[in-house]
Amino acid sequence: MAAASVGGGGREGLPEHIAIIMDGNGRWAERRGLPKYKGHEAGMDAMIKVVRHASDLGVGHLTVYAFSTENWKRSEDEVKGIFQLLLIYVSRELEELHRNNVKVDVFGDWEPFSKPVRDALNKTIKRTEGNTGLRFHICLNYGSRAEILRAAEKMASAGAYTEEGFSACLYSAGVPDPDLLIRPGGEKRISNFLLWQAAYSELVFSDALWPDYGPAELDEALAEYAVRKRRFGGR
Ligand code: IPE
Ligand code: IPE
Ligand code: MG
Repeated sequence: MAAASVGGGGREGLPEHIAIIMDGNGRWAERRGLPKYKGHEAGMDAMIKVVRHASDLGVGHLTVYAFSTENWKRSEDEVKGIFQLLLIYVSRELEELHRNNVKVDVFGDWEPFSKPVRDALNKTIKRTEGNTGLRFHICLNYGSRAEILRAAEKMASAGAYTEEGFSACLYSAGVPDPDLLIRPGGEKRISNFLLWQAAYSELVFSDALWPDYGPAELDEALAEYAVRKRRFGGR
């Protein structure tokens, strides 16, 4: 299954790269009278299910927006909770990801992460480094503007001013641009996600809150994608 995903997805009309803004955890918890933490926890469960499904389908790349450069504006408690959950899930799911031949990496600035978070991420990246199935990119302390600025600095020292050269300076170097960008949670905006890479992505919005998102919702988005006509500026 995993081998079939190399270079173009396993199925006709399947996107090679899916990107998802995992939004709606707070509202999900609020509607149930639960603390926000519970919403983020349910969001992690949704993420694991969606990764598994994308891997089973033979998708090449899945990029998820887990924590933005702007999300530091939230309470210290909430931010702590999110990173705590990340630690728990990354460690708990590592062996299953590895068994499924998933290769994990992280897009974003690691600078502010605690040592345990860095260690867990490094361990996951190292353990899955040789895998050849789904490539799972987690955006953490990621902001597209910060990424673009960082790339501009890198590029200024490299000197080759081409679009390809610039793409190679982004966190997503070597990763094809997302074909399909999904935003659950009801909002219709990009919120500083993959501004450069999503120039020609097909956008699918869903009112489902992220913790309620699963294989069935992903299949629905894929069905919508499959009938889109992509033109890339051509006729
Ligand atoms: C997304 O859910 C998770 C993060 C941004 C970290 P939210 O926490 O933004 O949920 P809503 O949008 O408030 O419902
Ligand atoms: C986008 O969601 C960021 C993530 C899902 C990590 P936000 O909840 O932060 O975005 P806004 O504030 O609604 O634009
Ligand atoms: Mg939100």
